[in-house]
Amino acid sequence: MKVLGIETSCDETAASVVEDGQRLLSNVVASSMDLHVQYGGVVPEIAARSHIEVILPVIQQALYEADCTWDDIDAIAVTQGAGLGGSLLIGVLTARTLAIAHEKPLYAINHVEGHVYANFLTETSSALAPNYELRTTNPTFPMLAIIVSGGHSQLALFENHFDYTLLGQTHDDAIGEAFDKVAKMLGLPYPGGPSVSKAALKGDPQKYTLPKAKMGPRRVQHGDEVQGSSEQRKAAHSTVRQLSSAADNAAIRAVVDSGKYDFSFSGLKTAVLRLAQSQIGESHAFPSTKLSERLSEAQKNDIAASFQRTAIETIVDKAKLAVEEFQPKSVVIAGGVAANQELRRQLTEGLPLPIEFPDLKLCTDNGAMIATLGCFKAMNNQPTADPYTLDIAPNLSM
Ligand code: KG4
Ligand code: ZN
Repeated sequence: MKVLGIETSCDETAASVVEDGQRLLSNVVASSMDLHVQYGGVVPEIAARSHIEVILPVIQQALYEADCTWDDIDAIAVTQGAGLGGSLLIGVLTARTLAIAHEKPLYAINHVEGHVYANFLTETSSALAPNYELRTTNPTFPMLAIIVSGGHSQLALFENHFDYTLLGQTHDDAIGEAFDKVAKMLGLPYPGGPSVSKAALKGDPQKYTLPKAKMGPRRVQHGDEVQGSSEQRKAAHSTVRQLSSAADNAAIRAVVDSGKYDFSFSGLKTAVLRLAQSQIGESHAFPSTKLSERLSEAQKNDIAASFQRTAIETIVDKAKLAVEEFQPKSVVIAGGVAANQELRRQLTEGLPLPIEFPDLKLCTDNGAMIATLGCFKAMNNQPTADPYTLDIAPNLSM
């Protein structure tokens, strides 16, 4: 079973071929990041235009590197959401057209679920092998997934494929977004995750004490998190139930409602702003855009290190709690922030079970994770999407 995965939810145009949900045959990523750096964040129109320019060459390259022709491809999987509308549109329209032209089944993929599936890649072709440090074993169920990206901070308990409970999620900023915003305050380049962690290496993580948000009970009804029309939801994760069979049990429902696994990072971000202002002897009225000119390198490094420690501890504390409470057989990390070395260190030290990490290149957006989930959908007879009608779902959530 060979699936071509296409991912265009943000600024990466990516395509990959994955075999049997575990063997990586190619992974091509063209990023328009260089074009966005000067704006300090992704500009949706520029991202969409870049996708148009490179998507067909990226797909051709993915097939070439996998040594595949269209005859070898069994199905196409494409990110349907969440993401930037214009960006998603390019990927989805391309996938629909290719599915029709080459008569291949089409699978619509939820981007965040896709991130989790980067953990199922354990083998690669000999041509790619030197470039990848893959996990050596498959995750086993029940599996706790720590999903940390630019758009999401979530803990999900998977009972099996397509059967998970969302234990908690962020109420405001995602952790990656907090890294990006703190980087901006400190005058560090976009994307903020890598630049904050680099600065943090030279700073003292214990220099400043920053707050960790305490979360109260949720006000949402179960099912509220699922957005998009019913058609969209059906296409993306029709058999992925919002609550798993285990979660139907009142005890888990109460835990989820208690909000104890939810996150908030906006308070931490404001605390960093106030700290930086006080370090240069200014009041809360001092503009954040001028902070970096006044902060010394040492102050920036210490703030970066203290912020990173606190943000990562927030995630790890809840992951530890979830491991104690739900006793999963495996823990996986997913999303761009999963590339963070401090997160990997704290998890390795703090969790009572061994944890394997995906290759750094499979943490940030890529087509391989989309192809992998596509394989599992195809191998488990999950419903296909209609190539004549599949629509994007920019607000799709888990
Ligand atoms: O998963 P991803 O590529 O895109 C989304 O789906 O959001 O994640 C991008 C996010 C950005 O916020 C970026 O700053 C963050 O991942 N990131 C990191 C690191 N590398 C990327 N955050 C912390 N440490 C890193 N090493
Ligand atoms: Zn992502």
